[in-house]
Amino acid sequence: MYTVAVLISGSGSNLQALFDAQDAGDLGGAEVHVVVSDRSDAFGLQRALARGVAAACVPLPAAPSGPSRHAVRAAWEQRLAKVVAAFTPDLVVLAGFMRILSSGFLQHFPNRVINQHPALLPADGGDTVTTSTGLVIPALRGAHVVPDALRLGMSVTGCTIHRVTPRVDDGPILARTEVPILPDDDEVSLHERIKAHERRMIVQVVRDLAAGSSPKS
Ligand code: GRF
Repeated sequence: MYTVAVLISGSGSNLQALFDAQDAGDLGGAEVHVVVSDRSDAFGLQRALARGVAAACVPLPAAPSGPSRHAVRAAWEQRLAKVVAAFTPDLVVLAGFMRILSSGFLQHFPNRVINQHPALLPADGGDTVTTSTGLVIPALRGAHVVPDALRLGMSVTGCTIHRVTPRVDDGPILARTEVPILPDDDEVSLHERIKAHERRMIVQVVRDLAAGSSPKS
């Protein structure tokens, strides 16, 4: 059994793709055992509950600015890690989880956290990506990369799945797909097209990782 924890902040259509693949016997024996969100209104929690999969919300408390902000955030990461660790996951998937996780969280799941990012990221951690046609485009990082790609007038963007390190939107690449930007694209249409690729990629990556896993000690 290859146990998967999925962290979400929103709709959870990628989570649903994992559920669907699991039902179709297409997830290589991997099973989603828990879904955790920082937002109680994340629809992905309902998707989990509807299947009888454990679902939890660990909200990040509003904190005043200043030094105490760091302590509040560190304590939240520990609470989050405790909930996830209770399910002893082989893999933690950040599927639209809109919070940055530091080593305070990551150290509990060494080399076991992967992230979906709706833009192309480079393998070398640099500031540009070279596409399959030799075009050099900016590596877009952060929470607004779909509108950023439109604003910059790029002709191609994409999506990436990578292992998570303490550096934001960085880490070894597991899968990447280029997505052309069409002349009449807006943020919604472009993001939907990217997400269709993300759903296919996340299933493939989880299946491959499950297939290559060594038994839990
Ligand atoms: C995806 O585009 C993911 O890359 C981004 O948030 C989106 C999540 O979509 N970080 P959904 O909640 O799975 O529908």
